[in-house]
Amino acid sequence: MQIFKTQKQLTRYLKEIRKNKTIGFIPTMGALHSGHISLIHLSKKKCDITVCSIFINPTQFNNSKDFQKYPKNHTQDIPLLQKNECDILYIPDVKDLYIKSEQTKKFDFGELTKAMEAEYRPGHFNGVGTIVEKLLNIINPHKAFFGQKDLQQLYFVKALANTLSIKVDIIACKTIREKNGLAKSSRNTLLSENQKYKAGIIYQCLNFCKKNQQLGVSALKKHTIQKINSIKDIKIEYIEFINLENFKKITVLDEKNENAICIAAYLNEVRLIDNIIL
Ligand code: PAJ
Repeated sequence: MQIFKTQKQLTRYLKEIRKNKTIGFIPTMGALHSGHISLIHLSKKKCDITVCSIFINPTQFNNSKDFQKYPKNHTQDIPLLQKNECDILYIPDVKDLYIKSEQTKKFDFGELTKAMEAEYRPGHFNGVGTIVEKLLNIINPHKAFFGQKDLQQLYFVKALANTLSIKVDIIACKTIREKNGLAKSSRNTLLSENQKYKAGIIYQCLNFCKKNQQLGVSALKKHTIQKINSIKDIKIEYIEFINLENFKKITVLDEKNENAICIAAYLNEVRLIDNIIL
């Protein structure tokens, strides 16, 4: 695996590769787990060369404590990528991507940039959009891989590529889970085994809602809030039923549209998100 710390070296290297090979790209913030690795595997299947980036993007954290305690694990990440035959790793310093006191760009994609994650993490998508645009422009991949675990981010990135006319296929990848259903996340390393076990309730509730749609949105919401909040140390932040076409909240499930249920919850100070597509 080739490792690059600067975009200058990376772009020079990729210029040659792009002449006769397709490039797949997986942006990450490191502390890699099998969810990230599943994206690497899909890229290897669909593209000739796979590029992964590891960069904890400061501008997407609306909470400085969350940024400071975000897990870092380069000593495990690099061998894990090597073992899974990733071809190229871009692992820059903040100075390689941001100039001093650079402002984040502002993005307005309607409900996508107003609801749920946008509402509870003000400025988050401006930070994600700023960094993803930079990374896509540097790497200029044929395909970029994003997890459904971060459903709103996936749709946000699709809208971003569309609006800015960035030529790239955004590929959605299914959520990888622990045995008890808890979605794999870098933040899970901040949880004890017992807390991970408890956090399984989130996916159990999503599944219950999917299987019991006839009960209706409002009853399902009420049931989920009660169920999750009844577990010690877990507090639900939001549960929303949305139309995936426009991310608008729905109060009635209808079969014409593709709908999803999204949840955010805190386990003590650790914020977890998950979703299920109906
Ligand atoms: P990060 O949280 O490291 O996630 C990197 C990619 O891995 C995202 O596309 C995310 O959806 C995907 N992913 C995370 N957990 C997953 C799981 N359990 N199953 C499948 N895919 C999973 O998302 C980010 O970083 C950042 O916001 C980033 C896009 C890199 C911009 O800074």
